Amino acid sequence: MNILVLGSGGREHTLTWKVAQSEKTEKLFVAPGNAGTSQIATNVNIGVTDFEAIKKLVIEEAINMVIVGPEDPLVKGVYDFFLNDETLKNVIVIGPDKAAAQLEGSKEFAKEFMSRHNIPTAAYQSFTKDSVEEGYAFLETLEAPYVLKADGLAAGKGVLILNDLQEAKDELHNMLVDSKFGEASTKVVIEEFLSGIELSCFVLTDGKDYLTLPTAKDYKRIGEGDVGLNTGGMGAISPVPFADEVFIKKIEDRIIKPTINGFQKDKMTYKGFVFIGLIKVNEDPYVIEYNVRMGDPETEVVIPRIKNDLVPLFEAVGNQTLGEKTLNIDERAATTVMLVSGGYPEAYEKGKEINGLENVHDSLVFHAGTKLEDKKVVTNGGRVIAITSYDEDFNEAIKKSYQNIEKLSFDKMYYRKDIGFDL
Ligand SMILES: Nc1ncnc2c1ncn2[C@@H]1O[C@H](COP(=O)(O)OP(=O)(O)O)[C@@H](O)[C@H]1O
Ligand SMILES: [Mg+2]
Repeated sequence: MNILVLGSGGREHTLTWKVAQSEKTEKLFVAPGNAGTSQIATNVNIGVTDFEAIKKLVIEEAINMVIVGPEDPLVKGVYDFFLNDETLKNVIVIGPDKAAAQLEGSKEFAKEFMSRHNIPTAAYQSFTKDSVEEGYAFLETLEAPYVLKADGLAAGKGVLILNDLQEAKDELHNMLVDSKFGEASTKVVIEEFLSGIELSCFVLTDGKDYLTLPTAKDYKRIGEGDVGLNTGGMGAISPVPFADEVFIKKIEDRIIKPTINGFQKDKMTYKGFVFIGLIKVNEDPYVIEYNVRMGDPETEVVIPRIKNDLVPLFEAVGNQTLGEKTLNIDERAATTVMLVSGGYPEAYEKGKEINGLENVHDSLVFHAGTKLEDKKVVTNGGRVIAITSYDEDFNEAIKKSYQNIEKLSFDKMYYRKDIGFDL
């Protein structure tokens, strides 16, 4: 099989690494990829939403399967683009169609889906410019803190959590009337605040049947102790120690099953990963959000724990025979720590040479923002490299990641030294 992975981050390097191990994989391409993917596959310099260029590549290289890493192409309809094209319609695309991708592309759509299918989530209402006064009134009925969410894609910046009622009203105005997040905040969802600890669960589905992948917990803030600005993610752990069998059964019964049944009832086409962001309130799981692809850096701990060959699983997703498959999960814990560029998530420099990669032993190196320059690996993004390790116990695994990180350096390298501190 010839396979194309779309994307250029740590998630895509991990998926490429896994798919490269399959006996079924013949030619393997990544668009646009990074320095890490270039060592195990062929990078092609095409943007993930340049559908015409992707089409040309798929035809030229006789590609049979496209694995979509990020949300952008899915929300823009890459699945439908393939399905509606005579020459591409038999290519397996791992992801939902454009309509189902609205589960991530629109917070309101996701909330309506959950309420229609009785999936536990925070109470909410949504507002537009024309109903901003009603929005203020709704805020008055809630207690602090106030949760305001831009409806559309806002690169992880569209959610505001505010302690003060007046500030919440002002921000609602900024979002709806002054287009604080552009198009994305034409609508705003206001939610009840849920208090608890967050985790994520991942599902691979063919739209009919599903496999539940391991749970993971990521660390979003830049600073140790979970303080400071939000990032794409600074590290992750799988499995989540507090998600015991009883809790996972609740997730399965109350959330995963009704979600997959909801796809069928709503006649949604969904052949890919579902990322369910959860919060544990007392002993009960609630959905914070859906994403229609894997998470990053959760992929860097979830995928390495899957022992199955991924390619036959993806084929089963494409042919809707996933019900015949079972997962084989590595019992060991996996941890990952992200090395980032100094200054990230604000301004940072690129092009710094990364030293010591050849000295890493007993950990996996997944490239996020890197590229090759004169045969040297240099930084090319805020998040640069993820170091993943396994052990029986996550505390031991994380030690291995940190020991290997000692051997690595680049100008202004930063990472959190406390991944897993709260577990
Ligand atoms: N109802 C809620 N109660 C408490 N915290 C919330 C709630 N909704 C979102 N959050 C917090 O805000 C973060 C971002 O919200 P989320 O819906 O995941 O948006 P996105 O990832 O698209 O920015 C969550 O990870 C969670 O920490
Ligand atoms: Mg989120």
